Amino acid sequence: MSATEEAEALKLLFRNQYSFLISKIMFTASDLGVFDLLMESKEPLTSVTIAERLGTSPFGMERLLDACVGLKFLQVERKDNQTLYGNTNLANLYLGKRSPRTQYYSLKFNVEFVYTRAQHLADSVREGEAQTYRLSDISTKDVFEAMYRSESGLREFMEFMHEMWSLCGRDVLSAFDLSHFPLVCDLGGCTGDLAKEYISLYPNSTVTILDLPEVVETGKKHFVSSEEHRITFHEGDAFKDPIPEADLYIVARTLHCFSEEKCVQLLTRLHKACKPGGGVLVVEIVLNEDRTGPFEAHIYAVVMLLLTQGKERTPSEYNALLSAAGFKDIQQKKAILFDAILGRK
Ligand SMILES: C[S@@+](CC[C@H](N)C(=O)[O-])C[C@H]1O[C@@H](n2cnc3c(N)ncnc32)[C@H](O)[C@@H]1O
Repeated sequence: MSATEEAEALKLLFRNQYSFLISKIMFTASDLGVFDLLMESKEPLTSVTIAERLGTSPFGMERLLDACVGLKFLQVERKDNQTLYGNTNLANLYLGKRSPRTQYYSLKFNVEFVYTRAQHLADSVREGEAQTYRLSDISTKDVFEAMYRSESGLREFMEFMHEMWSLCGRDVLSAFDLSHFPLVCDLGGCTGDLAKEYISLYPNSTVTILDLPEVVETGKKHFVSSEEHRITFHEGDAFKDPIPEADLYIVARTLHCFSEEKCVQLLTRLHKACKPGGGVLVVEIVLNEDRTGPFEAHIYAVVMLLLTQGKERTPSEYNALLSAAGFKDIQQKKAILFDAILGRK
């Protein structure tokens, strides 16, 4: 290794060792209201003013703000002998609780729910199993049952799901021309956000969201307005209850929660209910065929190991699942972050 390579390796080693703190710093600044305050103040502020307005110690706040500068969440300038902090575009857009495309609940879910389970990563690797049941208050192995047992847990998970599709839902739904699928069922459609993107892209369509009863109840109450007549909710267990008939089934970020056996079971039920000429659209982050990346798929795969019986899969693994369920003409297209896989009946 050359001296330059060694210096790079040491930097990478250091950064990776402490990278768990990056998400904690990002979430803490968001949760304390730093980004919202700077967004609303319209001008950069000193650390003392920020600390005063947010009720923290000036000493602690200065540490947090400097770390945010290093991570490019904040920018800093010197004026009239003062150090002034302001948001970067990234913070304005995503990190404030009131940012237009806030990722607050995504940060919260990862820093709290995933992080706690990550203490048991070695157990998951040894046993090949999710670690939900190890937490003293939870005996179930089903992550949805664990998250949905409290109203606040359910609501926070749904807020987390809600944040993604305003960022890249349109992109993933336009990877294929889906205009000839007017009757759509979004299986595990949760908050209805992908459904909203679908009906705005394809004006003659209607979408039924099939999800568990507690999700449907909260979805109707908080996420889809009753004036949106083109989206309806249908409560049920997709493994047991009748599947509404449709031209197209969307299954987004859901197959990666389930084992091969359960995926084939679910997709076979969809194939049976699907209208002739219809299809299924799977939306997931697909692992490269040679398993070298992308980074996001590797990270999601570890999260799935910690929380579920599922995993991220390669194109040929998705092909095998869809084919086993009877779908044909399987095609895959890359979109921003997520991939779209279309299979036809
Ligand atoms: C990881 S979330 C993905 C939500 C949504 N598709 C999205 O991308 O925002 C998985 C969804 O599947 C739902 N789900 C889990 N098990 C289910 C079942 N047996 N029947 C119906 N829906 C189920 C969950 O309630 C949740 O809404």
